[in-house]
Amino acid sequence: MNKQVFIRTYGCQMNERDSEMLAALLRREGFGIAARESEAGVILVNTCSVRAKAEEKALGKLRLLVDERKKGRRPLVVGAVGCMVQRLKDDIFRLVPGLDFALGTARLAAAAGAIRMAASGRGGILELSADGIEPGPGTHFPGRVSAFINILYGCDRRCSYCVVPEVRGPERSIAAREIVAEACELVRGGTKEIILLGQSILSYGRKNDVWAGEKESPGGFKEPFPRLLEALDSIEGLKRLRFMSSHPSGCTDELARAFTELPKVCPHIHLPLQSGSDRILKLMRRGYTFAEYAAAVGRLRAAVPGLALTSDVIVGFPSESEEDFSLTGKVLAEMKLTNAFIFKYSPRPGTRAAGLADDVSESEKMRRNKIILDEQNKICLELNRRLAGRECEVLVEGNSKRNPGRWTGRTATNIITVFEKSARNGACRPGDLIRVKINRAEEQTLYGTPC
Ligand code: SAH
Ligand code: SF4
Ligand code: F3S
Repeated sequence: MNKQVFIRTYGCQMNERDSEMLAALLRREGFGIAARESEAGVILVNTCSVRAKAEEKALGKLRLLVDERKKGRRPLVVGAVGCMVQRLKDDIFRLVPGLDFALGTARLAAAAGAIRMAASGRGGILELSADGIEPGPGTHFPGRVSAFINILYGCDRRCSYCVVPEVRGPERSIAAREIVAEACELVRGGTKEIILLGQSILSYGRKNDVWAGEKESPGGFKEPFPRLLEALDSIEGLKRLRFMSSHPSGCTDELARAFTELPKVCPHIHLPLQSGSDRILKLMRRGYTFAEYAAAVGRLRAAVPGLALTSDVIVGFPSESEEDFSLTGKVLAEMKLTNAFIFKYSPRPGTRAAGLADDVSESEKMRRNKIILDEQNKICLELNRRLAGRECEVLVEGNSKRNPGRWTGRTATNIITVFEKSARNGACRPGDLIRVKINRAEEQTLYGTPC
């Protein structure tokens, strides 16, 4: 059989990391990872369930692939993995007739076996158990400038609109020792930036003891997450540390201290707000009021001047009135976020909010989405323009996609920065930290020249 596997990934960074891990596990089992779909004998779709649209995309893709196979074309094996499998369970075989197998979020290690079974004509495998292995070390793509480490799986928060707790299971943190080992391995392989992942990452180590038997923190950090940042910050050769997503309840003085005292921790926090209306926040069961959110931001901003703050916002939540919506617009304008991702509310079966009438029409959701997006884009442009004429430190990631004569990278505040390759920086490599003078700013991108 053609043992080349192509993995198509939908969804968040956690899914990107899972796909990377899946690829490594398959390689160990003698499969190859195809760079192009057209070269693969096996196609796996790593799915997302967070909004109905995400599911539609994955279902559409899977149906197309199965169809191609029916017509006698590639691929020979089609499998679905991840969040949507966990949610739909065996319904997925009804929705995608002819699908070979489906593996839930914690069963990626079963992929090699499922592919072999399917190739020998025994399809229909469905694995959903939540207690599969979650291997970290040895499952990264070698030599990436920037790499993800999943430090906390699942989520216990149960925001009323969210399917993630159902599809990713209860929260569990990985032992600090294992994370540090994984990070050291990455850095030895050339990684310069580590992005720690967890749905509510500041809850790291609150539920299970992740520091058992480890020596005290040299900097006197008592809380598990800042302490982890401290341990990672001391890895020689690592240049930057990032993490996401955060919740206001974890924005403690110790976290602020971690930002100021640990040089590799980038001055950026992704702190989803979701809504500026307390009434809606309560219905969302977010566990904070806007005042509490603003206090968390104030604490961090006071300690970390220039801290970049990004957020997620949902518009059109059930019963969201014009007044609730305008509060969201108002607070976004006041808070001056560096960036915000705006989503239209999508009812997810089985969540609490699905019991509320989805009473904001699609056209109204679109209108609200556009208003907030336009406002936020103006803020992005205004903030980015302030950087014109200044020097920023940029971690070089690689060639600019649009123009290979330019490098692309990010500032410490996570803004994409593109700059010309010149004779002087021609020797510069992905992974280098270089200083760039900003000449021009767009909403999502800075342009500059190396100093
Ligand atoms: N764990 C992260 C969020 C993961 S989902 C956190 O709590 O910060 C990413 C974003 O998708 C959420 O922040 C939210 O803005 C959006 N989202 C989640 N469920 C949604 C739904 N049912 N409809 C619309 N947007 C949703
Ligand atoms: Fe979903 Fe809330 Fe958990 Fe984020 S914190 S994954 S929005 S339940
Ligand atoms: Fe991520 Fe989507 Fe799953 S946002 S955790 S891939 S439901």
